[in-house]
Amino acid sequence: MTPEEFDYLRELLNKSSGLVLADGKEYLVESRLLPVAREAGMDSLSELVAGLKLADSKDLQTKVTQAMTINESFFFRDKTPFENFKQIMVPAMLASPRAASRSMRIWCAAASTGQEPYSLAIQIREMEEQLRGWNIEIIATDLSQEVLEKAKAGLYSQFEVQRGLPIQMLVKYFQQTGSLWQIDSSIRSMVRYKHYNLLDDYTVLGTFDMIFCRNVLIYFGPETKRDMLARMAKRLRPDGYLVLGAAETVVGISDDYVPVSGARGLYALSASAGAAAAPAPAPAAFPALALRVATGTQSA
Ligand SMILES: C[S@@+](CC[C@H](N)C(=O)[O-])C[C@H]1O[C@@H](n2cnc3c(N)ncnc32)[C@H](O)[C@@H]1O
Repeated sequence: MTPEEFDYLRELLNKSSGLVLADGKEYLVESRLLPVAREAGMDSLSELVAGLKLADSKDLQTKVTQAMTINESFFFRDKTPFENFKQIMVPAMLASPRAASRSMRIWCAAASTGQEPYSLAIQIREMEEQLRGWNIEIIATDLSQEVLEKAKAGLYSQFEVQRGLPIQMLVKYFQQTGSLWQIDSSIRSMVRYKHYNLLDDYTVLGTFDMIFCRNVLIYFGPETKRDMLARMAKRLRPDGYLVLGAAETVVGISDDYVPVSGARGLYALSASAGAAAAPAPAPAAFPALALRVATGTQSA
């Protein structure tokens, strides 16, 4: 692959997905795209680039973009977001005016193979008593149709279920089918999947009480991050939450959010972005939470 071909591929990737390919990643491009070239009956990346330049190359472009995405995910990844969900976010929702309508919408903005939305669905099921009668919608989106198909099937290898999933949850919510494990249809039906590019207009998705956008912003350039965070702020209800990945932050990128004290990776809207006038008080039914918020000692 020539330097010009590498530049062509990284510009294509950036335009189609926002992903930024750093200098020196030629080896990654080769290992990911040679199989795409071969599948299309081509012998080299030079042939692939020539094919991409043809007028009717939309399908090939999609395959190239999908092949370049990092789809790594696992159940209850980083634990903290799911603890925050249980200890801070859901209690705040229960104490808010939306308790009258008992409805909540959650967006998993880069759902990959489904482990993140299913971890949330399991967590919701585990909180059945508090959330009885609530209508909770989980919309899980991703750019890659391939990962969404896997997510919808809810089938995982032994290795995948061993990463992060407590054994009692495996037993409770999965069935073994041959060498794979399938998540229960009752959990699968809690998640609605949608093929969706984060570069596109978010208004079609509606408004959300929580947005989980984890481990994807790291792959974008600063302008793309700024734009996405600004548009997500407009999709959040005034007392909603944004959850980012462990290596991601809004600091220095967006003034639309403020970190929730003591809760790593959790953000509320700032006053300038239209935050609710006063945050809902920590509900008395959750004294552990009240203590954590008051002392700011919640472990990350
Ligand atoms: C590393 S995975 C993160 C999965 C999950 N959120 C987690 O933290 O475990 C990143 C996902 O972002 C998706 N992605 C990358 N660029 C995207 C874009 N422009 N629009 C939507 N999804 C995108 C990829 O296809 C991939 O599945």
